[in-house]
Amino acid sequence: MSADYQPATLADVQRLRASLHEQGKKLVFTNGCFDLLHAGHVRYLQQARALGDAMVIGLNSDQSVRVLKGPERPLNSENDRAEVLAALRAVDAVVVFEDQRATSLIQGIRPHLYVKGGDYTVDSLNAEERAALADAGTEICILPLVPGKSTTSTINKMLGGAVCDSDKLRLAALGSGEGSNLRAIIDAVQSGSLNAEIVLALSDQSASNFLNIARTAGCPAQFVDGGPNPRKLSDAAQKEIFEHLERARVDVVVLAGFMRILKEPVIGGYSGRIVNVHPSLLPKHKGANAPQLALDAGDSESGCTVHLVTAEIDGGRILAQAQVPVESGDTAATLHARIKTAEHQLLPQVLNEWRERGLPVRGVTQP
Ligand code: GRF
Repeated sequence: MSADYQPATLADVQRLRASLHEQGKKLVFTNGCFDLLHAGHVRYLQQARALGDAMVIGLNSDQSVRVLKGPERPLNSENDRAEVLAALRAVDAVVVFEDQRATSLIQGIRPHLYVKGGDYTVDSLNAEERAALADAGTEICILPLVPGKSTTSTINKMLGGAVCDSDKLRLAALGSGEGSNLRAIIDAVQSGSLNAEIVLALSDQSASNFLNIARTAGCPAQFVDGGPNPRKLSDAAQKEIFEHLERARVDVVVLAGFMRILKEPVIGGYSGRIVNVHPSLLPKHKGANAPQLALDAGDSESGCTVHLVTAEIDGGRILAQAQVPVESGDTAATLHARIKTAEHQLLPQVLNEWRERGLPVRGVTQP
């Protein structure tokens, strides 16, 4: 039997860098977990390698993968992952690092080019890593992700198809406020009218009633700091939310009063699997303050809409609507309360229909 593969050492890589530098050539560096290699990785690595003359991969150690991805990962040990990567034509050396960040490796190697996948932007790179790259005079290059390929989607397909013994819809609910729609979903699950499991309740408001409701009901509750702008999510928060969804193996994401705008990687990664509930009969009265807009417009009828979420605000395909009357003497608050009562019926109903109609909610392609 042959012994385990031995990855390169920092000294090996430093020698490679020095010899390339002498010849006026460029060393490319990228890092990641590369737990279950797929065509998306291979294409990404080929593109990265083509930017220079040799490429080194910083591979997260088993311990750091556990911290980043959860206790069930990695599937393959660091030596095995290094051996598979090193066999690729695009890869010249693989070096394992222990920290969650590649900062010390970047400082040690001083690569000419640093390449990352498109779920990052230059801004969302870790600040320490960015400082180390600037110090080493390293050029940063972000490559687009290959759509439809990811380790997590591969694992989810395997679980959905073979191991998973539950036909429950795995829901994530995102909310910022009162949480009455979350309460309605929890009630529907507990009464058995919705065959689902809330695997994640995530909020950008640490003291929200939404999170209290989730915790009281025993749902996994998660606060994510969205950044300083109350309507926008920082790039780092967009990425963090995506990672929480991936880790929780979510089928459908429900926006239940989530007040910030989701962008990539969530919108693309969960395309066709994110629903929002909006307090108007869309396409009428998009955006904030919809009940007030209905009153201002003199509408005699209002209601709520459950729709798919796309990059266009309140613009995705409408799945269902329910009407409520506007009554004389209504204020925005009284009308909104009546609309919410309708939402509490409609949203769990749509989710249950989704599950029963057997839409391809598991194993849908993700980047
Ligand atoms: C609901 O009216 C929903 O339509 C809108 O935000 C409100 C959330 O209410 N998007 P709650 O937090 O579920 O009580």
